[in-house]
Amino acid sequence: MPRWICKVCGYVHTGPEPPEICPICGAPASEFERLEDDGPAEEPTGAGASAASAAPVAPLAPSPEGPGAALGRISYGLFVVTTRRGGVLGGQTANTVFQITADPPRVALGINKANHTHGLLSESGVAAVNILGRDNLDLVRSFGFRSGRDVDKFDGVDHRPSPAVGCPVLSGALAWLELRLDPDRKADAGSHTIFVGDVVGGGVLREGEPMTYAWYRENRPRPTAADPPRAAGKEGRAGL
Ligand SMILES: Cc1cc2nc3c(=O)[nH]c(=O)nc-3n(C[C@H](O)[C@H](O)[C@H](O)COP(=O)(O)O)c2cc1C
Repeated sequence: MPRWICKVCGYVHTGPEPPEICPICGAPASEFERLEDDGPAEEPTGAGASAASAAPVAPLAPSPEGPGAALGRISYGLFVVTTRRGGVLGGQTANTVFQITADPPRVALGINKANHTHGLLSESGVAAVNILGRDNLDLVRSFGFRSGRDVDKFDGVDHRPSPAVGCPVLSGALAWLELRLDPDRKADAGSHTIFVGDVVGGGVLREGEPMTYAWYRENRPRPTAADPPRAAGKEGRAGL
């Protein structure tokens, strides 16, 4: 019996003709290609039957709102990424911070090219990642809804220079990491640059529950009239 593979999702159909519509991904018959090796003359049944061709499989239904609902279920932490270029301090809230290799320990940062912090990071080549706790909503707000171009975000925020690279460590954070950014490993992701940094230091300031992005979204402060009209638009992701 001829066998047909869906070029979109790999579903294999056994029969004289391809199905009108792929039961898995909904691709039309034109997306099916005949496999060179025909299956057995009779429809396979029992122990030898392939799972794909024998078992009826319910087609997957994409969410009506598109992949955004699934993207919203990726989990992140929340951080303030800081840097120092000479006497100029910079820093911003970021959720796109993740350890990318363990040996050597490396961390990646996703930073919007429009941000003041982006320019400072590019020039300084060093960063501190301040790992926030659930009681740090004030820091998320101060560093996430205003730009260092307009205000001094460090005014009134207790901080000290990190020992290895001299970037601001916020005293209210749970812990910090120090990074030396590797210019050969950074990647252009369109609106954002992915910086990759070797972990050259770090420490724990206090115990506490790290803030996750999901928890933040449940408990987030709303921008007030005192905040400049920015952040979500500039960051490019609504609902921050
Ligand atoms: C919860 C939250 C998460 C954010 N995550 C990121 C991020 O991962 N990357 C990024 O570039 N901006 C992120 N932002 C936006 C920046 O923090 C924001 O644009 C900031 O004002 C930039 O400041 P700057 O211009 O001083 O660098 C986030 C903001 C919030 C409130």
